[in-house]
Amino acid sequence: MQDAQPADAGTRERTAVVAGLGAWVPHGVVTNDELARVLDTSDEWIRSRTGIGRRHVVSPGESTGDLAVEAGRRALASAAANGGDRTADAVVLATSTPDRPCPATAPEVASRLGLGGVAAFDISAVCSGFVYALGVSGALITSGAAERVLVVGADTFSTILDPGDRTTRAVFGDGAGAVLLRAGQPTERGALRGLTLGSDGTRSDLIQVPGGGSRLRSAGEPARDADAYFTMAGRPVFGQAVRRMADSVRASAAELGWAVSDVDRVVLHQANARITAAVADRLDLPVDRFPSNIGQVGNTVAASIPLALADAAQEGVLRPGHRVVLCGFGGGLTWGALGLVWPQVKPV
Ligand code: UT7
Repeated sequence: MQDAQPADAGTRERTAVVAGLGAWVPHGVVTNDELARVLDTSDEWIRSRTGIGRRHVVSPGESTGDLAVEAGRRALASAAANGGDRTADAVVLATSTPDRPCPATAPEVASRLGLGGVAAFDISAVCSGFVYALGVSGALITSGAAERVLVVGADTFSTILDPGDRTTRAVFGDGAGAVLLRAGQPTERGALRGLTLGSDGTRSDLIQVPGGGSRLRSAGEPARDADAYFTMAGRPVFGQAVRRMADSVRASAAELGWAVSDVDRVVLHQANARITAAVADRLDLPVDRFPSNIGQVGNTVAASIPLALADAAQEGVLRPGHRVVLCGFGGGLTWGALGLVWPQVKPV
């Protein structure tokens, strides 16, 4: 464990600093045994192949925006409890399951949080969405365009899964997490640094919802129900996830001036416990440096990293002074990572 940022981190640059953290999952829970009652699967298969024991799902009429508002409210409360202001002058929402295809969900989230006429927009980068959103929000702060940005990751994949697809239904769950960023200095605990982002659009077919966009609509073909569902080619995605996340953690650590072995906690997108174990192996790090809550929530897409952060901080697995790298991978394909020294911030 390290107590401070390295001395070469710079002193006067304006940087985005984590000031609050909030998390929220809907009340509905589906256990593996409940899935096994309606699909050809078993608790044993799901646990051994993914590490997942249960997942949360929205109730009828509940939306991604509803979850985002709850997580956002908690991140603002967390910032206030840690001595900061309960305000933001921009809201950036990472999601692939917006309340409607158009407009973005973020403006409504900002209004419902009582933030007034602040800048608000969505980011679409599937399971990398939260890392992309942190990167863009950090840039809003470093450019001087914003002082405080509420960054939310929220998804309700239960609303786009094929009810008959045992693989995706076993993996995905709903949830939301949020971080409040404020302007600060790179030498402070909580300063976001070492951002690395990437994509490979030649593999966009591996994770997709085929319908609902301009490609099929312009072809004039009648909409097929199946095209509205999320599809994932599990095997090839697995290999890509391991390689891209291991490479991203390495790149981010190098950018931060940290040896990989000096990273205290790696908070990966919670895709699959076997993926986390394989990334740990590639990085030659003990798997207990990778906080995990996948057993309780499954893969919550853009919410996955802030939910894992909140659970780890709540349980004391993630402590102030830890050198942390956050890393996401998902549809697009997209991936990314960044790092920080964990600040004195308690989640709400
Ligand atoms: O979040 C974005 C990034 N996403 C990821 O990184 C996900 C990466 N992929 C994965 O995590 C895994 O590929 C899955 C969990 C999705 C699937 O696990 P797998 O070990 O790769 O299984 P598979 O797709 O290769 O399927 C193996 C067998 C198949 O049966 P056959 O053809 O061998 O008879 C599947 O039909 O397991 C079967 N299967 C199941 N059996 C029982 C697939 N899903 C289930 C299930 N229960 N839920």
